[in-house]
Amino acid sequence: MARVSTLSRAAFGSVLILVRLVNALDDRIIYQNDALTSGWENWSWSSEINFAATDMYAGTSGTSMSVKSTEWAALSLKHNDPFNTYAGLRFDIEGNQPGLQISFSATADDSSTPGIALSDISKSVTTGKFTTITIDFKALPVSGAPLPSGSWNRIGFQATASGATYHIDNIVLLGAINITPEILSAEPLGSNVVAVTTKGSVDLTTLKVLLNGKAITVSSRTSYSPPDTPSKSITYLNLATPLASGKLDIVAGSKNYTYTLPPASTGTLNSKRSPINPLIYGVNWPKDANYIKTLGVTVSRWGGNAVTAYNPFGHFTNAGADWFFQNRGSDNSDDWIGWVQGAGSDAIMTVPGLDWVSKDTSSYSYPKTQYPQQERFDTYKPDSGNGRFPNGTTITPPPDPKIAYTNWNTTMAKTWLQSLKNKPKFATMDNEIEITHSTHSDMHPAPMSFDEEFDRVSRFAIATKEALPDVQILAPSTCAWWFYWTSAVGYSDNAAHGNLDFLPWFLQKMKELGTQRNKRFLDFLDIHYYYAPDTGKEDDAALALRLRMSRSLWDETYVDESWIGTNNPENHQPNARIVSLIPRFKKLIQQHYPGTKLAVSEWSGANENHVTGGLLTADSLGIFGKYGLDAATYWTTPNELSPGGLAYWLYRGSGTFFGSTSVGIDSNQFSPDLLGIYASLDSRGKNSVVILNKNPRNATAISLSGLPAGDYFFRHFGGTSGIAKWQSTSKLQTNYIVVPSYTAIFLQQK
Ligand SMILES: *[C@@H]1O[C@H](CO)[C@@H](O)[C@H](O)[C@H]1NC(C)=O
Ligand SMILES: *[C@@H]1O[C@H](CO)[C@@H](O)[C@H](O)[C@H]1NC(C)=O
Ligand SMILES: *[C@@H]1O[C@H](CO)[C@@H](O)[C@H](O)[C@H]1NC(C)=O
Ligand SMILES: *[C@@H]1O[C@H](CO)[C@@H](O)[C@H](O)[C@H]1NC(C)=O
Ligand SMILES: *[C@@H]1O[C@H](CO)[C@@H](O)[C@H](O)[C@H]1NC(C)=O
Repeated sequence: MARVSTLSRAAFGSVLILVRLVNALDDRIIYQNDALTSGWENWSWSSEINFAATDMYAGTSGTSMSVKSTEWAALSLKHNDPFNTYAGLRFDIEGNQPGLQISFSATADDSSTPGIALSDISKSVTTGKFTTITIDFKALPVSGAPLPSGSWNRIGFQATASGATYHIDNIVLLGAINITPEILSAEPLGSNVVAVTTKGSVDLTTLKVLLNGKAITVSSRTSYSPPDTPSKSITYLNLATPLASGKLDIVAGSKNYTYTLPPASTGTLNSKRSPINPLIYGVNWPKDANYIKTLGVTVSRWGGNAVTAYNPFGHFTNAGADWFFQNRGSDNSDDWIGWVQGAGSDAIMTVPGLDWVSKDTSSYSYPKTQYPQQERFDTYKPDSGNGRFPNGTTITPPPDPKIAYTNWNTTMAKTWLQSLKNKPKFATMDNEIEITHSTHSDMHPAPMSFDEEFDRVSRFAIATKEALPDVQILAPSTCAWWFYWTSAVGYSDNAAHGNLDFLPWFLQKMKELGTQRNKRFLDFLDIHYYYAPDTGKEDDAALALRLRMSRSLWDETYVDESWIGTNNPENHQPNARIVSLIPRFKKLIQQHYPGTKLAVSEWSGANENHVTGGLLTADSLGIFGKYGLDAATYWTTPNELSPGGLAYWLYRGSGTFFGSTSVGIDSNQFSPDLLGIYASLDSRGKNSVVILNKNPRNATAISLSGLPAGDYFFRHFGGTSGIAKWQSTSKLQTNYIVVPSYTAIFLQQK
């Protein structure tokens, strides 16, 4: 896809200049020169702050504020009066791209907005010069959502895990932000639509569309401003003539957007049908009922490392190695199941399976008074250490578990589960207990063996089904590829078990247990799966890898582009470098315990805030359905407005769902590295299709025979402007469907 440069886009905007004054307040300076202005107070913590640093400054003031925050510490500025009526915040910042999260808090009720990562606003903050950052309260980065309502009177610049060192100057609340009218993108879409995304008031009446040099009539236009991203709006131009291959120009004034529309790649809907289990559209820890409804979340899991120590009799927990082995309060499991189910999602409750659970909200396993030499202590609770010697090895001998825990067993699990007013439909037997020697080294320092894990899962599964006869059990929620096949004891454990790999052995044992007791205690084989390739570089190669690594879920020829299969000789699996996750586990289930379903109760895409993260998530959901995964819950919850969240919305948003019967597609022209395409039928017998264009630059065109032409409900996300967009209906010529670069579309037959 050809994109106009910033320069030409600016010129394009100037044809239609309209400046909107959002607000008539005067700017209010918070910090300038060498001091906070009157009324502003320093509520910072664990930071060295110099309000009159002379080594760096913006403008001519001669001073700025220098800040050095340790991990999670913050520069925090507070005023008695809320500032929510202001239009935005501006400041100048200098430093080596400091890891900072900016958030707004209300001291009145102790609430806070989610943090905005500085790197999501600017990636070019650098040393030796100041970069000006503006945050528009009507369109927060990255989501474009407005500042939520609240009595915000405190601004936090919080360091991330590695701390932050920077200079900051000229911190100002803005009375008004002038929105420069701008066309953010103008893209061909479907068979006869051009979607124009704009910011500010742009006049689109003079816009012309030319296909192969010939003007085509815009027969109608509809504009839509998503309520959750009100600063942007999208106008759909319905064309009187369908799109076709060749050159498309969208012209405004003297500037234009030019596309090469390629010939269509062709495919055919075939007669292959298979069920799509709606439980694949799940998440862990949904934020609230509205989240469940907005994204159409079907199942919600109570998961993660802390649930191992959940004490349901007092609602205490302990996150183990994730947070200094400290006890804290927990949600009430019964209430949680209640509201989750009330919002229309099923619930997966986790039953702790070790011998201990948290005893209160305040104890911790490694006090400095007892273990003075430790690698790190909690900045906020300086007596609480991380349970490691200064050289990083786990402290031995282990602490007395009674310091932080109280006993737990199957009788107690039964008492709790029987007492629940809200019954969960599903239960997992603890979480990743194969690595408790590391995650919960204070209460279970010994490596978990094959036998111990089976013993724990089976005892707690029996107790769970006694307490809740209708519950379905997911286990053993194994963390990763390595532990699918062996245990923390090591290869000798495989050798002692007939040289079997762990999960195949576990399936056999659960089958034996079922036969002995004439009842199934394993309904879903449950694993966790995180894509192993590293795409953190965010360059072209990493983004392309991110979009093809979903092949590891299904493709029996795709060699994983990661460490997988390269360094684990204890693995007896065939083709260890080819993950082929769903087919591999379906075969193992067929071999060792037929009838068991397959669940992935933790997985995630990558960089949910980048469009490629959203496309990977949408691709994964399409694959889960097509290849018959039985349940999946994302770890944890992509923001509703981020591309990751929009992937769920694409399949399930606004009460319009992708169908529950998968339809096969024949084609030798669709490359999985560049295209994701998923078809389904719903209960009315109507078709839905999801198409993802993974090409970063060029539009793609598809011809799908077997898909009837006619009126379709239509939604999409991605492209250049990357916001949630939809329109109610569009006429589709199914022999030429255009999807712009880096865009996902959903089509459903009316
Ligand atoms: C602001 O707070 C920080 C963190 O507590 C402290 O180190 C610093 O000295 C304070 N600065 C002033 C000028 O009060
Ligand atoms: C659009 O721009 C391209 C190059 O930027 C130019 O070749 C083409 O003639 C323009 N088309 C129209 C209709 O202005
Ligand atoms: C780490 O430190 C502890 C305590 O000083 C010591 O016992 C242990 O041998 C050390 N381990 C390594 C690998 O250096
Ligand atoms: C669990 O602990 C309680 C209290 O100590 C005890 O009464 C009960 O018998 C134990 N249950 C099992 C299965 O050990
Ligand atoms: C996009 O298309 C152009 C020409 O049509 C081609 O040269 C280029 O390689 C394509 N880019 C990608 C990333 O496919």
